[in-house]
Amino acid sequence: MSAPAGTAAAASLRPPAVLASFDGPVGAYVHVPFCPWICPFCPYNKVLAEEDLARRYFAALRREVDWYVAAHGEAHGAPFTSLYIGGGTPTMYPDELAEVIQRIPVSGERAVEVLPDHGTPERLDRLAAMGITAVSIGAQSFHDGVLRRLGRPHDAAASRAAVETALGRFACVDVDLIVDVAWEDEDAFPGAFLDDVRTCLELGVDQVSTYPLMRFGFTPFGTARHDRRREHAVLGQATELAQSMGYERRSVWTLNKRGSVPYTSITRRRFLGMGAGSSSFAGRDFYVNHFGVATYADAVEQGQLPIARWLHLGRWGGAAYDAFWQAYAGGVDRHAMTQSYGRAVAAAAHAGLSPFVLARMLRQAPGGYRLTPRGFDAYHDLERLVTYQFIEPLWAEMLTEHLAEPGAAEGRARWVAPERARPGRAWSLARRLFER
Ligand SMILES: C[S@@+](CC[C@H](N)C(=O)[O-])C[C@H]1O[C@@H](n2cnc3c(N)ncnc32)[C@H](O)[C@@H]1O
Ligand code: SF4
Repeated sequence: MSAPAGTAAAASLRPPAVLASFDGPVGAYVHVPFCPWICPFCPYNKVLAEEDLARRYFAALRREVDWYVAAHGEAHGAPFTSLYIGGGTPTMYPDELAEVIQRIPVSGERAVEVLPDHGTPERLDRLAAMGITAVSIGAQSFHDGVLRRLGRPHDAAASRAAVETALGRFACVDVDLIVDVAWEDEDAFPGAFLDDVRTCLELGVDQVSTYPLMRFGFTPFGTARHDRRREHAVLGQATELAQSMGYERRSVWTLNKRGSVPYTSITRRRFLGMGAGSSSFAGRDFYVNHFGVATYADAVEQGQLPIARWLHLGRWGGAAYDAFWQAYAGGVDRHAMTQSYGRAVAAAAHAGLSPFVLARMLRQAPGGYRLTPRGFDAYHDLERLVTYQFIEPLWAEMLTEHLAEPGAAEGRARWVAPERARPGRAWSLARRLFER
């Protein structure tokens, strides 16, 4: 048993103060932490679905959304620029989902993650009727052996049917694929990943997300060594295949149809997270909500924002965070950096990035820098480092909240084992430097 994570400063934040900390247009993110089944490799914040808890959760979520929508209208006088709904499995409770979506004014894309089993014509038509314009189908693979190994609740036929059903119903269809080179090493599924990429490209999807499997210590899969050379090789082969079929590597882990509009949850420069386990980045401040579903609902029911952690990164830390995620999406925009953080920071960033230009990882492009193929390779390693050094230890701390909730440790959240997570010294340092 452990107490809710968080600090008094974080708990005392109010919606107007959070919205006032945003220095530019805001994208909205909503998290739905319920799944019909727990996949053993998945680190995301979720519990096994349970109706009573879900009803309580959505009531709290609607309250949090209403607070922020009102404060956002006052602070920015405009709708949110986009909406991304992730999980967990956002399509678990369609009626509740519809109620949340219709409360959030959005000027641009509305995207939602879809479990293949939920990718039926009826469910997808319902999403389209809710105003959803983009879907991300969690296919993972079109090979039954790979899906069994991953412990997925669906088979290859369901992956394919969901993608085919989504095409033509939405402006953008993304397909998530996973590659685990530890298995490729053993030749367990030779060529399966490249075959999966080819299937997506032949079907004509707008985007393929090619995720190398991350092994978070707190999941049932536990940690495993990455074979860096093999990871680079297989992602390189996927890129070559994509290029030969009219696609390009547009971000570190996505392949996009040439000329199509970009789509991905983490390329929003500023986002406001709502729901248990969501986070927000305002430019200089980073906020993390409670992960425990009941802990989150408790806070909201007491009239408080459910923010557990508040990191004030300031001008330099904020610029580093911003540049890191811009680079994930393929490049850094100098004008945007100057506008947000001032000339001194932009000049320092320019000086700091010059060695990477020399090393041919970046090239100068109109208004800033773009990653080269060598840069994408290097960034892939950096992303893995950040995942294990910052994200895994932060999430492990936050996931302990589940273990303090009635019945969760034995039932709904049995998958959580925070004590087995990597310690992540970089996260400890960041917390000491920036946490309020
Ligand atoms: C929240 S899940 C998807 C939504 C839905 N619940 C589903 O499973 O289809 C988001 C995506 O993250 C990716 N993912 C999950 N665990 C991962 C891991 N350990 N390493 C890399 N990618 C992972 C998967 O591709 C998954 O589709
Ligand atoms: S991969 Fe999707 S369905 Fe599986 S546990 Fe994670 S969020 Fe749930």
